[in-house]
Amino acid sequence: MNRRTFLGTLPAIAAVAAIAPRRLEAEASTGLEAAQDLEFIRAWERAQQARPSSLSPTARIAPPGEPGVPLVVHGRMFQRDGRTAAPGIVVFAYHTDRTGIYDAPSNGPHSWRLRGWAKSGADGRFEFTTIRPGAYPGRREPAHIHVGIHGPGIARFWTGGILFDDDPLVTDAIRAESTRAGQFGEVRPVQVRDGVQHVDFNMRVTGESW
Ligand SMILES: [Fe+2]
Repeated sequence: MNRRTFLGTLPAIAAVAAIAPRRLEAEASTGLEAAQDLEFIRAWERAQQARPSSLSPTARIAPPGEPGVPLVVHGRMFQRDGRTAAPGIVVFAYHTDRTGIYDAPSNGPHSWRLRGWAKSGADGRFEFTTIRPGAYPGRREPAHIHVGIHGPGIARFWTGGILFDDDPLVTDAIRAESTRAGQFGEVRPVQVRDGVQHVDFNMRVTGESW
């Protein structure tokens, strides 16, 4: 499924990722939705202030000891052509804990406890070690990992998502959209080796940003 479709399945606050910054500015005074969008952007910017000064192609999202099934995301970053490796791209990823919660309510509505940054290597590869996220409690959205990138030629960031092929909340429509996207589809097969889940995830530097 494409980014807009995917984000459309998430809470309204997450849908901001599909909205361009100029549109946000233009609509900033038009109502609650725009206010929520701006709040999300500020939350994102706050999170980036915690970005480590030195990044490598391998990183953690969940800290060691975090409850949950171990998961490794094997990422590859490509240029717009979908074939040429894109090195040096900062990848920011965050997700819920195994119960579907982003953070303690006392930390505010847009705080992401489980988050990490990597930078794609010369071959475009990056890797996150973490745990399998849970779906939002009592909701129908599939469990997911949010992924955003920063780098040369990327005005702000582009964000896509990782979904899991074995998640019963992934609908046929979502699967069909992902299949149409080919190797850049967001529904990823899960492989299990020695009790650790692994997913491959390909991203393209499309130039989309907000
Ligand atoms: Fe989310």
